[in-house]
Amino acid sequence: MKTLLRTLCAIASCTTAFVAAPALAADCSATVESNDAMQFNVKTLSVPAACKTFSVTLKHVGKLPKTAMGHNLVLTVPGDVAAVATDGIAAGVANDYVKPQDARVIAHSKLIGGGESTQVDIPVAKLKAGTDYTYFCSFPGHNSIMKGTLKLGS
Ligand code: CU
Repeated sequence: MKTLLRTLCAIASCTTAFVAAPALAADCSATVESNDAMQFNVKTLSVPAACKTFSVTLKHVGKLPKTAMGHNLVLTVPGDVAAVATDGIAAGVANDYVKPQDARVIAHSKLIGGGESTQVDIPVAKLKAGTDYTYFCSFPGHNSIMKGTLKLGS
């Protein structure tokens, strides 16, 4: 195994591929896990300003179906959370609990159940420096617990 690795390193130049890689570019992605206990495992996200798009992968590591314990990730300013969530409930599960074309929603994922995964791409140009944004789950009753803060970093 070591010999094989050394050979591969000689071909691919390990120094470049494995040592320098983390410093090369801003990390324009993150993963947030959700579970059957109605929780996100990440409470803050910092978006590097150099990113054009910030991709958040939402994983549901639980087992319950989306009708019982569905989760999504919706991004707004804090003052819009309650109204967006209320309108989302009215829009129903068929719309992933997000009102279609809701201008207050900066980005949102679809609704997923246990064992599923989805991705939401956040357009970084829509984020202002110095502003706190809130990401939350708009499944009925979840946003009081399932929320976090997203900021544009440097
Ligand atoms: Cu949820």
